[in-house]
Amino acid sequence: MKKEVFIKIKDINIKIHDVINIIITILDARDPYTYTHSERVAELSVRIAEDMGLLPDHIEKIHIAAHLHDVGKIGVPDTVLNKPGKLNDVDMIQIQSHSRIGYNILRELAPFQEISDIVLHHHERYDGRGYPDGIKGEDIPIESRIIAVADSFDAITSDRPYRNGLSYEVGFDEINKHNGDQFCPLIVEHFNNILNDIPPLINKCNDSIIQHSAFVGHEELLHSRKIIMPNIVY
Ligand SMILES: [Fe+2]
Ligand SMILES: [Fe+2]
Repeated sequence: MKKEVFIKIKDINIKIHDVINIIITILDARDPYTYTHSERVAELSVRIAEDMGLLPDHIEKIHIAAHLHDVGKIGVPDTVLNKPGKLNDVDMIQIQSHSRIGYNILRELAPFQEISDIVLHHHERYDGRGYPDGIKGEDIPIESRIIAVADSFDAITSDRPYRNGLSYEVGFDEINKHNGDQFCPLIVEHFNNILNDIPPLINKCNDSIIQHSAFVGHEELLHSRKIIMPNIVY
């Protein structure tokens, strides 16, 4: 049976999973798309890792890192994060800062040191042309290389308010087209092994995503006058 990991603060033991839940709830409050995207990336990454035969503790680490991989988007302005259409170079620099912002957030907590390294490198490319450090090949943590494949597949195939997601077939083709330049061949090989599992996995994941606990009703605030507007649910 898996042992629970705790953080001890004075006389209080805090479960590490409760901390993770708080972080992803903050993310959901800030950017619901990134929250649902991260749920799917976590499931896909775990399935790839299982096919690779990794050990359960290792898979759990990948699961947590995948849930948190884009947490740094908390620090990216809405105008850039949800900008429809083409991003300019300044926008790109702001978006790309999310890897390091995520790393800076997570490394503050000792049990997240390894997770923070995985998050830092989830946009590195196998050919060394990625960011933030431009490391390549096996220098990129294997966990980051797994998340990179799952992340790109979901980014291609998921719907955004300003565009529909592309088909799974286009997603599969894109991953394979960039095998060996953007993506690690070993990970692509295992991604290809699980192709048939992906559609039901994503459907199951989308069905289980319900409104997360970040929603608040402001009517509970003292001295506030409740504004009643037809057709608005508070
Ligand atoms: Fe990312
Ligand atoms: Fe992502």
